[in-house]
Amino acid sequence: MEKKKRLEEVDGRLQQHLVLLLAIVLGFLIMDPFDMSPVGGHDFRPVKNDIAPYDQVMESWPADNLSRLGLGNLEHVDKVFGPESLEFDPLGNGPYTGMADGRIVKWAGEGRGWVTFALVSRDWSEKLCMTGKDSTTYKQWKMEALCGRPLGLRFDKSSGNLYIADAYYGLMVVGPDGGLATPLSTHMGGEPILFANDLDIHSNGSIFFTDTSQKYNRVNHFFIMLEGEASGRLLRYDPPTKSTHIVLDGLAFPNGVQLSKDESFLLFTETTNCRLMKLWLKGEKKGKVELVANLPGFPDNIRINEQGQFWVAIDCCRTKAQEILTNNPWMRSVYFRLPFQMRYLARIMGMKMYSVISLFDEQGKILDVLEDKEGVVMKLVSEVREANGMLWIGTVAHNHIATLPYP
Ligand SMILES: *[C@@H]1O[C@H](CO)[C@@H](O)[C@H](O)[C@H]1NC(C)=O
Ligand SMILES: *[C@@H]1O[C@H](CO)[C@@H](O)[C@H](O)[C@H]1NC(C)=O
Repeated sequence: MEKKKRLEEVDGRLQQHLVLLLAIVLGFLIMDPFDMSPVGGHDFRPVKNDIAPYDQVMESWPADNLSRLGLGNLEHVDKVFGPESLEFDPLGNGPYTGMADGRIVKWAGEGRGWVTFALVSRDWSEKLCMTGKDSTTYKQWKMEALCGRPLGLRFDKSSGNLYIADAYYGLMVVGPDGGLATPLSTHMGGEPILFANDLDIHSNGSIFFTDTSQKYNRVNHFFIMLEGEASGRLLRYDPPTKSTHIVLDGLAFPNGVQLSKDESFLLFTETTNCRLMKLWLKGEKKGKVELVANLPGFPDNIRINEQGQFWVAIDCCRTKAQEILTNNPWMRSVYFRLPFQMRYLARIMGMKMYSVISLFDEQGKILDVLEDKEGVVMKLVSEVREANGMLWIGTVAHNHIATLPYP
């Protein structure tokens, strides 16, 4: 009896010591003195963000049981690098796309292949920037600010000029023959635009474009989502006065932007908050912002088709664990200070990489949903463009373009 009791005491003390040790180790890890965690070296301040409840969104979201997106073809594999946006010129030539190596390239047909069409940076050089397949890896990240990262592309149908939202060089334009693009809007109120992302052109010449964050640039875009910070804006550039205006402020990772066919409204995505939003430009609701849809994952670009419907590219997907972190900033503050790589932390949260694309009508009704559940064909889709009986699908992080006959 005596002996057992003593053993229990020893056990108890040992446990206390273990708990203390564990607390010290955890404390040490969380302080992350060697900057080993994903947020290491950053002034990381998570805030609560405005996101719809997981169950509510997932229950009502239509599934694509046939996983039709998985039937797509991967084309130009290892010939294009991180083609975020795909665009055709007014003559129907192309596609054109902006790549991770800073170039805007044009598909010039089987014979000539991909040719360089335009550059955004005067400091661009083949030696420093053209790193081929490595362009979409972290190796390019330190060069990005120098080489440029053209994300959103739109041709002006009347002039044939190509407008570019470059993550580092702001809003730019280049003529129908390409070359070095000219900056149009690089500052707002004296401060540099940190992260231009996508644009659309109004028929009156004004250009609406997103500025994703005033705190983080593209290389650090993950922190915008992890923090939930909402310093993003929708801006408008007016060519007659060469002036830039704030249209909307306080957005959580504003990303894609698309005017409606009659220009009575525009849609934009808020990536962090997983939602599709509408801003009225005409009529009695002019200036009002409305929720169009809560999405099952993180949306990127929006592109209109000939019927005036909207394709939204969505990176998947929200999970239950991620919702708990989203609703509890202090937990994110601890979790992302653990000294593990982001991909492990994401995997623990059940985040799988796959994609969903969805077609919306003007009223915000879902017309179609295509998924690639296995993530075989498409991962990290960034844009869906419907042209010539096909869906052309861009991706910001992989080296190919995907196509799928549609409808
Ligand atoms: C897809 O599968 C789910 C669950 O198995 C089912 O409830 C739903 O009706 C199916 N949808 C279609 C369009 O077949
Ligand atoms: C073009 O139309 C938009 C939307 O109504 C408006 O905000 C903008 O000021 C107009 N631009 C010009 C140059 O008139």
